[in-house]
This record gives sequence, C-alpha cells and structure tokens, in this order.
Amino acid sequence: MPNHHLAFALDFPSLADARPYFTLSKHIRFAKIGLELFCREGPTVVQQVADAGFHVFLDLKLHDIPATVERAVDNLATLGIHLLTVHTFGGPTMLSRAVQAAQKSGTTQIVGVTVLTSLDTTDLSCLGIDRAVADQTERLAKMAWQAGVRAFVCSPKEVAHLRSTLGSDALLITPGIRPAAAATQDQKRVATPASAIADGADILVVGRPIRDAQDPEAATLNILAQINQSLASKTIP
Ligand code: C5P
Repeated sequence: MPNHHLAFALDFPSLADARPYFTLSKHIRFAKIGLELFCREGPTVVQQVADAGFHVFLDLKLHDIPATVERAVDNLATLGIHLLTVHTFGGPTMLSRAVQAAQKSGTTQIVGVTVLTSLDTTDLSCLGIDRAVADQTERLAKMAWQAGVRAFVCSPKEVAHLRSTLGSDALLITPGIRPAAAATQDQKRVATPASAIADGADILVVGRPIRDAQDPEAATLNILAQINQSLASKTIP
C-alpha cells in the first residue's frame, strides 16, 4: 500500500522528465504537481499522474475574485484531483466558494496556503501588514478555518503551533523536509521526517531528496522508514 503521509513534488520541466519516477506510486500516495509542470503540460499531466497510481496534489495556489476561483475549482475538480491549493489571502468569500465547489466533486479537498516562506516581516510590512510572520500565519489559518478550509500547507517551523491552534481535524501538509544528514539545498527552515511527524504534520512534501538521489526508490524507502518510526513512537503511550 502506498504511504499516505508522503507527497513527492514532481518538480520537473516536462512530463517526459517526470515519467521515470512514476513507479514510486507503489510506495508514495501523493504526487504534487506545481506551476512549472502544469503550465507546460496542462490538465493532461493530471490524468497521466493519476493513471500512474498517485493521488494528485495540484499546487496552483489559486487567488482571484470568488466567482473566478469557484469556476476554476469546478473545472479542476472534474480532473479527479485530491488536494488543490488556494491562497488564504484571497479572503473568506473566495475560500468558502472554493470549498463549496470542491465539496461538490466529492474528491477534491481545498488546501490553504498562508504566508509564503519566501516572505519575511519586512515583506509583510511592505504589503501593509505590520505583524510577525507567525501571527499573520495564525490569523490567516483561523480565518480560512472559519470559511471551511480544513487542510493547510505550513513550514516545519509552524506545524506544531498550527496543530495546537486548529486541533486534530486539520490536515497539515509540510514541505522543507530533509532526511537526517541530507543537504538542505535552498530550504531555510528544514525538518527531518521524524520531527515533522512528531510535531503534528500529516503529509510531508519531499522533492529534491528523492528526485536527485542516486537511487530514488531507496531514498523513498529511507524516508518512509523514518516516518513510520515516528508514527509508531507517537502511538506508544
Ligand atoms: O525539493 P524540495 O523537497 O525542497 O521540494 C519542496 C516542494 O515543496 C517544492 O515543490 C516547493 O515548491 C514546495 N514548497 C516549499 N516551501 C513552501 C511551500 C511549498 O518548498 N513553503
């Protein structure tokens, strides 16, 4: 059975580059399709990734007026996507319309993106937000929760706090994962699979540590072992 605590980021320029990794679907439940691949290949890539056996996590970070986002979600949901990101900064009406459109599909769940990890306090201040990143993240997450959003992308640094703020019903998805002893690449806030799970993450997004490994399947199995060990120690009282 593929492990539903792991999402492999298909950060590839084209479907042809991604395809050799499709066999990982026997171990990994989710594949994340981002803007790079979707803008090149369009909806076809969603079908191909689903046909390979993954549940599709489409990371388009939608942000527009409520009616436009609702219609986009309507269209995307017909593709059989399991997880679809939207910017919580789009506000309560946009979020609730996105959630309602996704619920009609019966398959798609809306995932809220709060403050991008590329933004710091100075950037927020430039946007007219004079608040710490952590406070803004919590504010957006609570607002999105009120609008019906139940899944969130958050950094390893935020996951414990969001878990305690939102409770056990929230689905928390965490990128910035590096297996112990791996290079951090350009990720500034990294965590090991074990610590992210211990802090309350449900799904870990991993890209380069698998994509760039000499043996991607072995790298995947190593990460899964770390996830399973952490889950096992969580359930022991
Ligand atoms: O290669 P790596 O494991 O860093 O890939 C992480 C994936 O998660 C990439 O697709 C990246 O765009 C995404 N992501 C991230 N940090 C965020 C949000 C998304 O790294 N804050």
